Amino acid sequence: MRRIKAVVYGVGSMNSIATRMMLEKGVDIVGALARSPEKVGRDLGEVAGLGFETGVTVEDDPDRVLSSRQADIAVIAVASYMSDMYEHLRRCAEHGVNAVTIAEEALYPWNSSPMATAELDHIARRHGVTLTGTGHQDVYWVNLVSMVLATAHRIETVTGRASWNVDDFGPEVAKDQRVDTSVEDFDRWLAEADRPPSFGRNTLGALVEDLGLSVAAQESTTRPEVAKQRVPSKSLGMTVDTGRVIGFTDVDTVRSHEGVTLTFEMTGRLYLEGEADINDWTVTGEPELRLLNPAVPTGVTTCTQLVNRIPDVINAPPGFITIEKLPRLRYRAFPLGTYVRDGG
Ligand SMILES: NC(=O)c1ccc[n+]([C@@H]2O[C@H](COP(=O)([O-])OP(=O)(O)OC[C@H]3O[C@@H](n4cnc5c(N)ncnc54)[C@H](OP(=O)(O)O)[C@@H]3O)[C@@H](O)[C@H]2O)c1
Repeated sequence: MRRIKAVVYGVGSMNSIATRMMLEKGVDIVGALARSPEKVGRDLGEVAGLGFETGVTVEDDPDRVLSSRQADIAVIAVASYMSDMYEHLRRCAEHGVNAVTIAEEALYPWNSSPMATAELDHIARRHGVTLTGTGHQDVYWVNLVSMVLATAHRIETVTGRASWNVDDFGPEVAKDQRVDTSVEDFDRWLAEADRPPSFGRNTLGALVEDLGLSVAAQESTTRPEVAKQRVPSKSLGMTVDTGRVIGFTDVDTVRSHEGVTLTFEMTGRLYLEGEADINDWTVTGEPELRLLNPAVPTGVTTCTQLVNRIPDVINAPPGFITIEKLPRLRYRAFPLGTYVRDGG
């Protein structure tokens, strides 16, 4: 078995958990990248709150780290959208390093950022590496749903509803979910022409591709989730006042040329005491089907999927390879290097 060498790219909430999981699954961490002066120069174990030193110093020069460590893969958790991710992914590919990211748009960016994705695909192929987006969506919103749909004879509609707690993640996520903005500022932001794609749009893109269907029409609507009482935020270290935004809900609908309508309503907001994540999918047609996962631990399952995907990404052919083209995600009982094929 060969050992996998990984670079931790971004040391925030998610990659701190992923770092522990990688170390526990026999991955050698050969570099760590962050941005803020509070993190750079310190030991990764200390920054990630692991309670022990790893011997890896957090650095802020991605080109230097990616070009000098012979890493198999960069594990990236820094941003959500392809506009922010492009440079990070390009850099990894040009240094010949595979990359897996939890950037939500990277799950299936072919419809929302076709030019950037095609360019990255080209660069990755040229350098013989794979770029992939994964995260909580991988199993819960795409592959589990896909397996349930595989038990249908005829599908008319697929309707999903999911919610997750903004506070399970870091401040980057709270910012993206517009937490603590006024409703007027939220509406202004929504009216801007260049609003990034909803996570639901990319999720439905992956599902439609997985079903072998083609998109005839699609639409997205968004509504703010407004605090009905004061709501504390752990990740922002503050309390949001009544009447201010605590997140939002996107409703995405895709109609396929083949007559199937897929809808996904996804809420990311601060929770009140006692609330839990949901993942609830209903299928009409023959037969009627339902997939319901109460109380999904979305934060942790994001990191487990990011880590468990590492061997698949290393084994995959070069290019921007989206998850519906990868093998079914599997539990990894053994060190991750065990699952890397010769030549991977
Ligand atoms: N797909 C999924 O299921 C899923 C789930 C959770 C999160 N996400 C996404 O993953 C991203 C990270 O989430 P998180 O909760 O870990 O957020 P977070 O705690 O805010 O961490 C983000 C980290 O990225 C680092 N960073 C930003 N730009 C960087 C750059 N140019 N170079 C190096 N490091 C950089 C920041 O470093 P500094 O602290 O040094 O500034 C920060 O530590 C978010 O965009 C989030 O939406 C996806």
